[in-house]
Amino acid sequence: MAAQKLPLTVAIDGPAASGKGTLARRLAAEFDLPYLDTGLTYRAVAAKMQAEDQALDDEGAAIKAAQSLDLATLDRVFLSDHQIGAAASKVAVMPKLRAELVTLQRGFAVKGAVMDGRDIGTVVCPNAQVKLFVTASAEARAERRFKEVEARGDASSYADILRDIRQRDARDSSRSVSPLEKAADAHLIDTTNMDIETAFLSAKTLVLQAVER
Ligand code: DC
Repeated sequence: MAAQKLPLTVAIDGPAASGKGTLARRLAAEFDLPYLDTGLTYRAVAAKMQAEDQALDDEGAAIKAAQSLDLATLDRVFLSDHQIGAAASKVAVMPKLRAELVTLQRGFAVKGAVMDGRDIGTVVCPNAQVKLFVTASAEARAERRFKEVEARGDASSYADILRDIRQRDARDSSRSVSPLEKAADAHLIDTTNMDIETAFLSAKTLVLQAVER
């Protein structure tokens, strides 16, 4: 009897503005897989707590907010707000909240998916057939964010964005539970001097190799 192939899961981790979201969306379209940006789940919890005037370190309130999340209705545009991102990185340090969100995220991935975040290859989907760790220098990432902010007509300086990215990196990498780190078996894609097309082609090749295995 031929071995049953597991549903394909692609785990993509990396710091803010590394290009992992764009890469994840393109891979999901290419391989016709559902896509979850797990950062949105942390953002949605933070946004709910802020809307209800709750302290961002109130773990009970955070768990309640997580339990009422509906992954089908996460509003990417609203949640992309910079200030919500900063609040999300604060709520993301709470272990019981993380456990709640990880359960929700694993449920999404059961039939195969492209998942992006900080702890997908290490914690959420450690058995993913393909793991990518997408990174770039803090300066390159700040430059990209600055261009996006400028294109939207919003005001923010490159120096402020760079400082913010460094703070967020430090918080995401130094927390005790599920810090941002490359899984031992993840492929490193450094996009500092690489355009998205090149990054996509190398990621696509890695997925095809895993599928053919
Ligand atoms: O990727 P993002 O900027 O939307 O993520 C917002 C915050 O959520 C980020 O600072 C850290 C946290 N996060 C996390 O801890 N684990 C994930 N899997 C995804 C995001």
